[in-house]
Amino acid sequence: MNFECIIVETKEKVGVITLNRPKALNALNDQLMSELGQALTAFDHDDAIHCIILTGSEKAFAAGADIASMVDYTFMDTYKGNFITRNWETIRTIRKPVIAAVAGYALGGGCELTMMCDFIIAADNAKFGQPEIKLATIPGAGGTQRLPRAISKSKAMDMCLTGRMMDAAEAERAGLVSRIVPLEMLMEEALSAANTIASMSLPAVLMIKESVNRSYETTLAEGVHFERRMFQATFGTEDQKEGMRAFLEKRPAEFKHR
Ligand code: HXC
Repeated sequence: MNFECIIVETKEKVGVITLNRPKALNALNDQLMSELGQALTAFDHDDAIHCIILTGSEKAFAAGADIASMVDYTFMDTYKGNFITRNWETIRTIRKPVIAAVAGYALGGGCELTMMCDFIIAADNAKFGQPEIKLATIPGAGGTQRLPRAISKSKAMDMCLTGRMMDAAEAERAGLVSRIVPLEMLMEEALSAANTIASMSLPAVLMIKESVNRSYETTLAEGVHFERRMFQATFGTEDQKEGMRAFLEKRPAEFKHR
């Protein structure tokens, strides 16, 4: 596939997608989002890939939706077109883990995109924010919904109503990001996490992603019920037998599905 706005690479079992519109700080236009959806879907269907990393540049993961292409949109353009409908929904359908490796600005739609990933590893120069209010619009790709779940209502209100940015340390304290590393270590850390995940049993990886995501969508009782069924389902896999036997035999596990 030929892409203009992203770079797609594979590193063993890890698919790496780099947002690449440097002149616009990786502003997310229709073409970029469409290419991103295609690349994510291709990796999701590729049996050789077990984990995906989404990253940007050292200066910007993404500075938001592309303001230049949005400025003259009418209501009908946004309502009927692909903008934040089809293009932005694809990432939610990806079954393999997607790690956001974030350096620099992750603003507006960029911040929302990081929150659609499964977890966020941040460089120490990362800055997160929902500055849409300064443009007299509002977050439109889940920011008002995912941010309060990630960092509390009070902090989410503060971020969305004032449009201020949060640095990496505040984002980690608030629970938005899982790890912070020095900028020069960002990809090494993300690849190390992705390789660790890729070395696990794929069915267990997929079931964990599905189960954790359930916790956002359902009641505690329903979520616990779903988790139990997934747990029981692992006992139908060869990998569960191998994982437990290997532990008891004090040897490394040789998973079939990894
Ligand atoms: C289009 C953008 C852009 C954006 C930056 N650029 N952000 N173009 N859309 N979101 C362009 C600038 O116009 C400029 O182009 C170039 O990138 C470099 O940006 P500068 O502003 O010169 O850089 P700097 O002074 O370092 O400031 C960085 C910044 C600032 C703080 C990130 O660029 C900024 O505030 N950007 C806008 C952030 C924002 O409001 N995001 C939310 C968008 S709305 P030229 O050609 O002049 O060099 C949104 C809604 C999502 O995301 C809804 C769901 C999809």
